[in-house]
Amino acid sequence: MSHNSFGHLFRVTTWGESHGPAIGCVVDGCPPRLALTEADIQPFLDRRRPGQSKFVTQRQEPDQVRILSGTFEGLTTGTPISLLIENTDQRSKDYGEIRDRFRPGHADLTYDLKYGIRDYRGGGRSSARETAMRVAAGAVARKVLAGVTIRGALVQMGPDRVDRAHWDWAAVEENAFFCPDPAAAIRWEAMLTEARKSGSSLGAVIEVVAEGVPPGLGAPIYGKLDADIAAALMGINAVKGVEIGEGFAAAALTGEGNADEMRMGPDGRVLFGDNHAGGVLGGISTGQPIVARFAVKPTSSILTPRKSVDRFGQEVEVLTKGRHDPCVGIRAVPVGEAMLALVLADHLLRHRGQNPDAPTEARLPRN
Ligand SMILES: Cc1cc2nc3c(=O)[nH]c(=O)nc-3n(C[C@H](O)[C@H](O)[C@H](O)COP(=O)(O)O)c2cc1C
Repeated sequence: MSHNSFGHLFRVTTWGESHGPAIGCVVDGCPPRLALTEADIQPFLDRRRPGQSKFVTQRQEPDQVRILSGTFEGLTTGTPISLLIENTDQRSKDYGEIRDRFRPGHADLTYDLKYGIRDYRGGGRSSARETAMRVAAGAVARKVLAGVTIRGALVQMGPDRVDRAHWDWAAVEENAFFCPDPAAAIRWEAMLTEARKSGSSLGAVIEVVAEGVPPGLGAPIYGKLDADIAAALMGINAVKGVEIGEGFAAAALTGEGNADEMRMGPDGRVLFGDNHAGGVLGGISTGQPIVARFAVKPTSSILTPRKSVDRFGQEVEVLTKGRHDPCVGIRAVPVGEAMLALVLADHLLRHRGQNPDAPTEARLPRN
């Protein structure tokens, strides 16, 4: 049984564990003749890389990606693209204490119950180390999505939200939190320093936005674009909630308030007054920005002891040493962007496959 692949026409399979010799992925179905070298992928991995500030895990991994197949003279060939990253900074002894004990909030118990065997070193396959390969594959997906801009930002840490009136995309790359509001970034620095020093951790909310997405992506009934985006984001480690557009807040609006009114613009373009829908209607993209948010729980590996049980049925206390992110939401930002890119690339190819003459912009009349 295989559950390590996703996507239909643009299909990604990842493999590897946190403390194995390497992690990797195979991207199958990528169109040929796209310019692709390691230099196109590396910058995205560098944004997710551990050890870059005191607010993320101190594991020092260079995360240098190698393309092993699927390109020739800097172009994709249409054959499977195999990507590999070596694991270089493993400290398995840090995990001796959780060999037989289950960390509350982590995957230790369920892996043991399901498989009866568990690579406890760094969490094995349940470790978010695997998400490096999603980021690498996402960089390939971005090549398929020419003209589409995908960006992400941390919009809430613990209970503290950004002020949307001060949203500045440029600021996202200028602080350690991918925070679009410089004042919030300063507050978060103090909050997270305190949480880290006290052996605790904090949750976060991330927003990902794709602009320039053509209308028509997504296939009702069981291939809805919003459903696939939700599944992709929910599949990121530690994610406990996903919203598209207005999300849960839509329940508190009236029909009038939630209506994204339409009017005709120049050249037959359909213009929207708002984007409560988050760029998807009936499971199909509208041509407006796709907007999704996901909530990430606080890191479960903490230095404060918590009650738990062990493999032998004994009640124990667990505290986790080792190097952990005090707020895993920070490094989840590039991962969320990558998952959105992967879903959109797959849907773009699926849409074009079924409907090659569909308009690339929201224009009327259609013909
Ligand atoms: C980028 C990223 C980094 C993470 N780093 C850690 C970590 O250092 N320690 C930890 O306990 N969990 C970490 N996690 C979360 C665990 O991988 C996750 O909680 C665990 O696999 C259990 O799965 P679940 O929370 O989805 O149920 C991280 C998650 C992400 C997205």
